[in-house]
Amino acid sequence: MKVIPLSPCLGAEVFEVDLSSTQSPQVYTAINDALLEHIVVVVRGQTMSSKEYVGAMRQFGAPGKQSHSEEFHPDHPEIWVIDSRNSEINTAGERMVFGSECWHTDHTHLERPPKITSLFAVQLPENGGDTEFVNAYRLYDRLAPSSRETIADLQVIYGADRHLKFREADRDSFSIPSRHPLVRTHPETGRRALYIHPLKMVSIEGMTVAESDDLINGLLAESIDSTEIYRHKWQPGDLVLIDNRACLHKAARDYDPRKGRVMHRMTIEGERPM
Ligand code: SIN
Repeated sequence: MKVIPLSPCLGAEVFEVDLSSTQSPQVYTAINDALLEHIVVVVRGQTMSSKEYVGAMRQFGAPGKQSHSEEFHPDHPEIWVIDSRNSEINTAGERMVFGSECWHTDHTHLERPPKITSLFAVQLPENGGDTEFVNAYRLYDRLAPSSRETIADLQVIYGADRHLKFREADRDSFSIPSRHPLVRTHPETGRRALYIHPLKMVSIEGMTVAESDDLINGLLAESIDSTEIYRHKWQPGDLVLIDNRACLHKAARDYDPRKGRVMHRMTIEGERPM
């Protein structure tokens, strides 16, 4: 299997893979190895059915619980159908781009947040609809020693009430409040990474909400270098695997959500962040 990096800091495309049919265990291992090395893996030109998609992703672990049950695929509830035409409407009456509010990692409201998120591009706007990624190991490494010292032992309390809408019926599936370190050590690579979902953060333990927001905004401003962002330009049939333990991502506000962008999203269960 050919693996070609897509940017200097993260992202790689893997070639010669058709996930609509069962592949040998070595293929899934090679994709997982590429994910551990490159953090974001792109497999283009996939034609798999939803059933085949679920089957392929199961090779990486157990599908995780997602949080918007009203938008789950009717036949395959492991898949969350993220259709931009159903996204939240802001106070100005405009449809928002889901996932575009801030750099984040997924589902920190869970006690064991997903290790992998996958996005399968089913329908795309004519232009835009990109997703941006940053390497969270690099974010940690780029911090000044004094910043690293300040955050070394900080724990973040997560909830969901600050974050968009979700149905009360889904509340029971959340591990609220969850508590995770702001700096986590990747269980497979042993590297330290900045780990945060600012919109799901209630506060940092021992700090006020305002102090917590200021600290996180400062850390992201200090560590994100725009030249180190990988911006994925989607093509229909792209499957993108994301190692949530090693990057932050954000959807770009570069299209009109009313035009229709449909992603089939799955998550794979992870471990308790340490
Ligand atoms: C997300 O934040 O999980 C969604 C990203 C995207 O749709 O590009």
